[in-house]
Amino acid sequence: MTEIAVEVSDLNFSWETGARVLDSCCLSVPKGEFWMLLGTNGSGKSTLLKLLAGLLTPKSGKVQILHPVGFVFQNPDHQLVMPTVGADVAFGLVEEKLPISQVRQRVEDALSAVNLLELQRRPIYALSGGQKQRVAIAGAIARQCEVLLLDEPTALLDPDSQLELVAQVRNLVKSRGLTALWVTHRLDELNYCDGAFLLEQGALVDRGDPERLKQRLMQVESSAAE
Ligand SMILES: Nc1ncnc2c1ncn2[C@@H]1O[C@H](COP(=O)(O)OP(=O)(O)O)[C@@H](O)[C@H]1O
Ligand SMILES: [Mg+2]
Repeated sequence: MTEIAVEVSDLNFSWETGARVLDSCCLSVPKGEFWMLLGTNGSGKSTLLKLLAGLLTPKSGKVQILHPVGFVFQNPDHQLVMPTVGADVAFGLVEEKLPISQVRQRVEDALSAVNLLELQRRPIYALSGGQKQRVAIAGAIARQCEVLLLDEPTALLDPDSQLELVAQVRNLVKSRGLTALWVTHRLDELNYCDGAFLLEQGALVDRGDPERLKQRLMQVESSAAE
């Protein structure tokens, strides 16, 4: 039987202001797969990811997710807190109180996984946007995260770095047996995933084959442009 890494049943959420943001959401992501979450601005994608990560509490319904969970935000400057690459990845391990040799090993392994080992001593400010996102991902790998949640991680990247990042995350998922849920509105990224969900006004209206969902969205976009 396929092991499930993320399972959401009948999830509802609304802000204090009252408006319903997520409406009876159900979804599941099999372990070892790379899925994407699509939807227009304001459809509830970031809210859903925050509920999955436990950063928000649902009004009702259930979230089951393998731990640890890693979160990668759209803007890495909101996430990277230490002055250098290696120090930032090590910072995420503080709570685990590991011996220094093990911290070093985990940091080196995680930076190798995202091809940044040679930049271990580089100041964060000297990195490109794509490199910063890879440091954030290395942080999650060092913490041995089972699930990666990525909220529009390519929104601030140029097209080359964008496709490089999505290909790298796919490789990590497949080589390490991780599970990833990636929010995007860029249709070319869909070529890299195993499946996708479509969220509209807080409801999951479609799921499955990325190619079919891509066709559906292209039709919506072209009819909107007419
Ligand atoms: N902190 C907040 N307080 C109140 N409403 C919010 C907050 N964050 C987002 N919203 C509202 O919740 C809805 C869903 O937002 P969000 O999950 O950010 O959508 P998406 O990520 O798909 O663009 C939007 O209507 C947005 O205005
Ligand atoms: Mg969002």
